[in-house]
Amino acid sequence: MTFLDLPQMIFARGSVCLPGSKSISNRALLLAALAEGVSEIENLLASDDTARMQEALRTLGVEADDLGAGKWRIHGCAGQIPVRRAELFLGNAGTAFRSLTAVLALADGDYTLTGVPRMQERPIGDLVDALRQLGAQIEYLGRAGYPPLRIRKRVPSKEGQQGGKVVRVRGDVSSQFLTGLLLALPLTGEKTSVEVTGTLISRPYVDITLELMARFGVSVERQGEQSFTLPAAARYVAPGAFYVEGDASSASYFLALGAIGAVDSVGAADAGVRVEGVGGKSIQGDVRFAEALAEMGATIEMGEHWMRASAPAAGLRGITLDCNHIPDAAMTLAVAALFAKGRTRIENIASWRVKETDRIAAMARELGKLGARVEEGEDYLCITPPDAGHPARAAMIDTYDDHRMSMCFSLASFATPLRIQHPECVAKTFPEYFRHFALVAHPAPVIAIDGPTASGKGTVSARVAAALGFHYLDSGALYRLTALAAQDAGVDWQDEAALAALAATLDVTFSAGRVLLNGREVSDALRSEAISSAASQVAALPAVRAALLFRQRAFHRAPGLVGDGRDMASVVFPAAPLKIFLTASAPVRAERRWRQLLEKGQDADREAILADLKARDERDRTRPVAPLRQETDARLLDTDTLDIESAVAQVLAWWRETRNVKK
Ligand code: DC
Repeated sequence: MTFLDLPQMIFARGSVCLPGSKSISNRALLLAALAEGVSEIENLLASDDTARMQEALRTLGVEADDLGAGKWRIHGCAGQIPVRRAELFLGNAGTAFRSLTAVLALADGDYTLTGVPRMQERPIGDLVDALRQLGAQIEYLGRAGYPPLRIRKRVPSKEGQQGGKVVRVRGDVSSQFLTGLLLALPLTGEKTSVEVTGTLISRPYVDITLELMARFGVSVERQGEQSFTLPAAARYVAPGAFYVEGDASSASYFLALGAIGAVDSVGAADAGVRVEGVGGKSIQGDVRFAEALAEMGATIEMGEHWMRASAPAAGLRGITLDCNHIPDAAMTLAVAALFAKGRTRIENIASWRVKETDRIAAMARELGKLGARVEEGEDYLCITPPDAGHPARAAMIDTYDDHRMSMCFSLASFATPLRIQHPECVAKTFPEYFRHFALVAHPAPVIAIDGPTASGKGTVSARVAAALGFHYLDSGALYRLTALAAQDAGVDWQDEAALAALAATLDVTFSAGRVLLNGREVSDALRSEAISSAASQVAALPAVRAALLFRQRAFHRAPGLVGDGRDMASVVFPAAPLKIFLTASAPVRAERRWRQLLEKGQDADREAILADLKARDERDRTRPVAPLRQETDARLLDTDTLDIESAVAQVLAWWRETRNVKK
């Protein structure tokens, strides 16, 4: 199980250079392959979807040379696919599957097209029906209307030669059917008209198709939205050099980050995010996402090949928008809605149901985990963010093997810490997404303080947190709570699986220095010698540590956090800008503990305390998982001769120094 934990982000600022557009890359690859002559494609997107298309073209005998740095040379086959019999695996790449189906159906060979299981749930019947009107021989190998497909040599019909053929295709399920058909039609060499039945959705994607066909020498005559005519003897000709502009859908995440801007006005002054590679001159419909953000109140600036979004002083406001023209970028809008005042209603998005996953259902479920109220309709979503007084809940977000779910939900980290499950699915269209995200999204600060038992780190940490107005995490309390919950439930302290299950579901409230377990105050019970000793045993179990990891990271919220424990610097917050190892010699710590007990009126044996403390140190230091140790980048704070005030003052001085260096 892979995951990515994101702390709450507090401001977005900077500039991102976008990777090449997926829609343009895959169309350009196919057109270059079908064209006469050699094409050099620059800034081609490197991603799973484009890799599927490249593999398929190679399998079909098309020569493609990787010239490095996103540049590819494609040797066109002038409409004659060299390999006449092949089996192609196209993963979950819808653009590749639909367009190759159309091209191969008209290419006079014998081909099998398959994909991942989800691809077999994505409809293709409307395209097959259209191709059959041209004599294509296509057989469903599984469920009728869905991949996988077997395609055999076409049997062209004779009728309609003079005035040209007319093919009907449905346009209201996926615009990729029309795109595939249009891209393939020049292979017939005949004048053909395409009549779209039903209202054409996602029209801007068809515009990209027509624009690229024109760049490769084929002009389609278009009568409104419903009819497209290809001339007789149309053929693709390589344009020589071809530059792929930046991906407008990928731009949406960064523009939204800029529009969300800053939490609690932290660093708001020069917040804002600029994307390079796509702008007013773009041929991609998703650039119009910027208009949607502007309607929500964001400030948008735009040049020919760049855009910039920044947050309005008054915050974003909810809108109602028909998103048929920006189906992919509209997902970003759904998550941006978490940051808007009032409801956001995203309409006319039925196509979401047949994408990488049922995106309407997935979006509703995951936004709900964060505390948003979501109404889900057959073709719309209505999102009401959590009330201002109730911050979004930290949550584990599932991504459904859908790259856009993974990218969209990274934005929600401005509302709350998150765990994104299987974040690597971004590789479908944007493998480097999270590296770019980290360049512009800035997390709430965290100070990690580790040290052995009775070193005074708890007191110092809590005071530093209070002085800075930060949250405070006493991570040891979570191990103690697990031990206590185990005791209450009669679970053995060696039973790793049962302890981990308890740790994962602890019902804990920390409030004003008190700790409640299942609604009962346990602040004192946690500190008993029996629980202290049990906590140290429980903490040595890897499954328990794993179960408590996200619970600890969920404290990493705005405006900042001080976390104390044994592995704050090494495991829980390895990116903390300030790490401190706070310690004192064993006799000094034993002496402090002994005095504490005396003050509480408890009789205590100094030697026994020292022996117990050394045993616990030993266990914490030598355990195989997350042992207690000073990280190489942690500062040492030895409190043998320091009182609490001096230790707190030292931590605060280091914090000011760290912040000044970072600025
Ligand atoms: O800090 P403390 O004494 O409350 O910690 C209780 C136990 O939990 C202690 O034996 C060490 C363990 N612990 C840990 O392993 N990792 C942490 N981050 C915090 C505490």
